Amino acid sequence: MRSLCPSILAADFLNLGDEIKLVENAGADIIHCDIMDGHFVPNISYGSEIVAAVNRITDLPLDVHLMINNSELFIDKFADAGADMISVHFENNYHLNRLINQIKSCNCRAGVVLNPATPVIMLSEVLDLIDYVLIMSVNPGFGGQKFIPESLNKVKDLRKIIDENNLNVKIQIDGGIGLENLKQVRDSGVDMFVAGASIFKAQNIEQAVCEMKKIISEN
Ligand code: DX5
Ligand code: ZN
Repeated sequence: MRSLCPSILAADFLNLGDEIKLVENAGADIIHCDIMDGHFVPNISYGSEIVAAVNRITDLPLDVHLMINNSELFIDKFADAGADMISVHFENNYHLNRLINQIKSCNCRAGVVLNPATPVIMLSEVLDLIDYVLIMSVNPGFGGQKFIPESLNKVKDLRKIIDENNLNVKIQIDGGIGLENLKQVRDSGVDMFVAGASIFKAQNIEQAVCEMKKIISEN
């Protein structure tokens, strides 16, 4: 079962509750929350108070993508705010194994994120410990950027490793995903599709969710 994960970074924050209800009613599976600290990435988004507010308005699982330094100081806070899944980047976390344990001890599913320049092989020692890998298909920090097509080679490599070793690890993709590339992305082996601008900036948010859900459910 593949999942569609609208990223609320592209939502209208003044109507956040209403827009979350729209995507939920249209069939979205998971709400993706992007946390940026202005250090690891050149942008600031929002914190655990917003995630807690989102948790109050939706029954959908919350997926928290941490683009912050010192992740260990904030993981418990986001879990308390209602996160069901938490992912941390490979690039700025020296003690990845420890962080994965911390996320799991909060009863959240644990993910590790790879930037476009980081190869899949870097995860060889943690793949059997985690629940999902997030492959960034843009450089993290902003919504609405152009999809980097080479990221699909990484998805295919990872798919092969997961299947050959019978691992229970999902593949998530994030950045520049929309109707124009969804089929190709699906066929490369992705399980969870994060999409911000292509949903929340669409003329009709519900229609965008329905069309994307239809494509990812095929095959
Ligand atoms: C980028 C974030 C993404 C972002 C995706 O750093 O991790 O989740 O919201 O936005 P789109 O789908 O607009 O590229
Ligand atoms: Zn994200």
